[in-house]
Amino acid sequence: LADNGSGFDALWSALLPVGRDASTGGYRRYAWSDADLAARSWFETAAHDRGLGVETDRNGNLWAWWGTASPDRPAVVTGSHLDSVPDGGAYDGPLGVVSAFAALDLLRDQGFRPGRPLAVAAFADEEGARFGVACVGSRLLAGVLSPEAARALRDADGVSLAEAMASAGHDPDGLGRDDERLATLGAYVELHVEQGRALATAEADRPVGVAAAIWPHGRYRLTFEGAADHAGTTRMDDRRDPMLTYAETVLSARKRAHLRGARATFGRVRVEPNATNAVPARVVAWLDARAESEEALATLVDDVRVRAEERAARDGTTVALTAESVSPAVVFDPALRDRVVEAVGPGTPLLPTQAGHDAGVLAAVLPTAMLFVRNPTGVSHSPAERAERADCLVGVEALARVLRAELAR
Ligand code: GLV
Ligand code: MN
Ligand code: MN
Repeated sequence: LADNGSGFDALWSALLPVGRDASTGGYRRYAWSDADLAARSWFETAAHDRGLGVETDRNGNLWAWWGTASPDRPAVVTGSHLDSVPDGGAYDGPLGVVSAFAALDLLRDQGFRPGRPLAVAAFADEEGARFGVACVGSRLLAGVLSPEAARALRDADGVSLAEAMASAGHDPDGLGRDDERLATLGAYVELHVEQGRALATAEADRPVGVAAAIWPHGRYRLTFEGAADHAGTTRMDDRRDPMLTYAETVLSARKRAHLRGARATFGRVRVEPNATNAVPARVVAWLDARAESEEALATLVDDVRVRAEERAARDGTTVALTAESVSPAVVFDPALRDRVVEAVGPGTPLLPTQAGHDAGVLAAVLPTAMLFVRNPTGVSHSPAERAERADCLVGVEALARVLRAELAR
């Protein structure tokens, strides 16, 4: 298949090896790690190769500029993120950044002269894999995460976000809502691999869709406390085993979510002291919960907490639940969404999504929209995540049409 004139293939193959683990084939691009810095330097090279001005903003987000934005000439922004979950796939994030540069190439090849500046952005720490909070870069930019709270976040080794940033050469003192920058931004359009199978179903069977809404979702830390003891000599009835309370909580959360048509996942757990022959003293586990409405999400989480407490009372343990990051429901700007659908083409499906995105966070401060590229299996947050090259190229063309329309406004 011939390229569509964009630099997609060269951009994609240069980024592909960055941060990929040889044994799993998954990506480990954690915020401010060496792999993240290598991905950032790929971004800078892509910008330089195109003669675009490149900068890192106060919050660690990357920007490449075609033209100079001002409050009188607000920019159209496109991009995504470069960081990953542990053993993530190649597409979640990078597809949007690569497609952004490739769409810019296509517009230039077509001789298009934008009436407004265009920026390609890569937002910092979207996945929150290292410090626990998702979309840190866009939340700070939008002022929905306080700089003090962000600086104090710690990774599993006790390194704070402020320390990690500083060792990567970024000054953490500048974090916080960036009104000056926000005043120069007109709209944000993020292209992303679909993280479900809606586009791959026989009824849809389309390479590209447009986002309608994002489910509200949150991350909650549950700390189960019991008493460490000998695995052999402690009679079963005499134990205060937090693992038991944790295990029952996993099962009940799954059941509650299933009954309510919501999502509940325990994907991360820490056991102390983590010994085969000891009843654990403490289990810390993280619940990822998502539901169709904010009310349904609150009810689900409350239900999980109440049941965990009931179980803890029976097990002689305790449980405490703390919300680490909660994202409200997002309905994308209807006017921009309609223009995006028109630019992509008639019959383009509108999809709700259960995944979080920087476009969801930024929707609070500027009109945002999203394009989804078909994922044949729907698998994401896994090395098995995929999109066909041909669909990716259709995505680039669709994004270029959207940008063309927005830049002409
Ligand atoms: C981001 O990928 C999320 O967790 O939804
Ligand atoms: Mn993701
Ligand atoms: Mn993503």
